[in-house]
Amino acid sequence: MLDVRDVRAGYGDVQVLFGVSVAVAAGEIVALVGPNGAGKTTLLRAIVGLLPLRRGSVSWEGRPIHAAPAHSIVEQGIALVPEGRRLFARMTLEENLLLGAFAPRALGGRREGLERVFEIFPRLAERRRQLAGSLSGGEQQMVAIGRALMSRPRLLLLDEPSLGLAPRVVEGILEVLRQIHRDGVGVFLVEQNVQASLALADRGYVLENGRISGAGSGHDLLRDPHVRQAYLGPLAMDR
Ligand SMILES: Nc1ncnc2c1ncn2[C@@H]1O[C@H](COP(=O)(O)OP(=O)(O)O)[C@@H](O)[C@H]1O
Ligand SMILES: [Mg+2]
Repeated sequence: MLDVRDVRAGYGDVQVLFGVSVAVAAGEIVALVGPNGAGKTTLLRAIVGLLPLRRGSVSWEGRPIHAAPAHSIVEQGIALVPEGRRLFARMTLEENLLLGAFAPRALGGRREGLERVFEIFPRLAERRRQLAGSLSGGEQQMVAIGRALMSRPRLLLLDEPSLGLAPRVVEGILEVLRQIHRDGVGVFLVEQNVQASLALADRGYVLENGRISGAGSGHDLLRDPHVRQAYLGPLAMDR
């Protein structure tokens, strides 16, 4: 489905990604974990056309998309849930969701799209007229995911959806990702929450200093000594 090869990218004189290759096959949940500053957000921005590549390629269904503008990438079925939610605080929850349906492929089905999002997130249905800025952090994350779903994606990219949320709220978000995945949408999950995201994922990658330093099944990565030592703490060895 998605094939990212040898991507180099950065900002001005600063190179951030040094030849990153990752792939997401149809029907997969793939996690990308790594410390703050590793280049995770930069990689997502490069995939969705918000940052030009200096080298390498991004292909979708076998066709290169790295020269395409961001809106055309949404139209082709890839949606990003950005870091920090990025909602319009003074618009209602429902207005924020409708903003996700700008792609022509989604415009016709906006009402059904809303109903589908409210099915997945019943809490949001009760609050549809509430201003987004007045919602809790967990509810705002649900709106950000719902807004991305409004474009009817076939692949959902998520940038640290669990950041700043209580463990119980995070568990709810991860359960929703399982459900979205069961509905046939590919999921590429970027997280600092290494334990939870690798436990959920079919496969995972570790990104450190702009390079992929580990890859494997979620299960195997959770048992990898380097991953355990670096991300799960010394006590993890005993668990
Ligand atoms: N807009 C920007 N301009 C310059 N440097 C940036 C910009 N965004 C990120 N960086 C730098 O790129 C590196 C990787 O950042 P980022 O991709 O946000 O990492 P992560 O998402 O893994 O925390 C960091 O050193 C960061 O300071
Ligand atoms: Mg980031």
